[in-house]
Amino acid sequence: MNPEMRTRIVAGNWKMNTTPEEGKKLVSEMIPMIDDEIRGAVHAILIPPILHLSGLMSLFSNRKQSLSWGAQDCSAHSKGAYTGEISAEMLLSVGVSYILVGHSERRAYHNETNTLCRDKILRIIEAGGCPIYCVGETLQEREEDRVTPVIEQQLNEGLPELLWEKSLPLIIAYEPVWAIGTGKTASPHQASEVHGLIRHWLKTHASDQIADSTSILYGGSVKAENAAELFNMPDVDGGLIGGASLQSRSFVEIVKACVR
Ligand code: PGA
Repeated sequence: MNPEMRTRIVAGNWKMNTTPEEGKKLVSEMIPMIDDEIRGAVHAILIPPILHLSGLMSLFSNRKQSLSWGAQDCSAHSKGAYTGEISAEMLLSVGVSYILVGHSERRAYHNETNTLCRDKILRIIEAGGCPIYCVGETLQEREEDRVTPVIEQQLNEGLPELLWEKSLPLIIAYEPVWAIGTGKTASPHQASEVHGLIRHWLKTHASDQIADSTSILYGGSVKAENAAELFNMPDVDGGLIGGASLQSRSFVEIVKACVR
């Protein structure tokens, strides 16, 4: 498949920011800035706190085409006595299409392992959603020249074979931990190198067709100023944006930078 054919995606992960009112304001500012040309070229996904999701989706549903919705996490279980948890099925039932899995903040602060990520991905698949699986090395791992084994282990242990057996949708996000929220961005070359590695892994473990069609996003201090050079690299099909997705103008500028 021609890489030009892969879906270009920019996803905004709001993390634990904004009140519902602030969330509404942010989306209502963004929508008029995303015109038909951008909409046709880049798929924009908003990932607000779970509390705001239903409200935002119903408020902006008549302009649904310009935005898709994602959740930041889900339970590894389907249902039952898991206080405080939200299942993939619940999220899908209110209109969420995408769910982040294995964000480095979940791995670091909630001890999430690759195996737990795998269980979450299985729940998302069962519910009919698309996982956005995040992988990435720490600074220490990079300095010790362990980027390849770390990423391969995250892929080996986190991604169930069912994805390939049934050709199910998947997005992968490469987010070097040292670049998240730090203002330090991976160089376009560094990003492209790891994206190439992930694409190669997909070729070996899934198929050429899956490797060619899976969008791989870069995340870590992406801003309007550096987005284009990252998104223009081979194998970089868009971005997962944290801080810069909290300002309507900067997020839309990043979406525009993803248009080929
Ligand atoms: P950042 O976060 O853009 O603020 O670095 C990216 C992410 O955590 O997804």
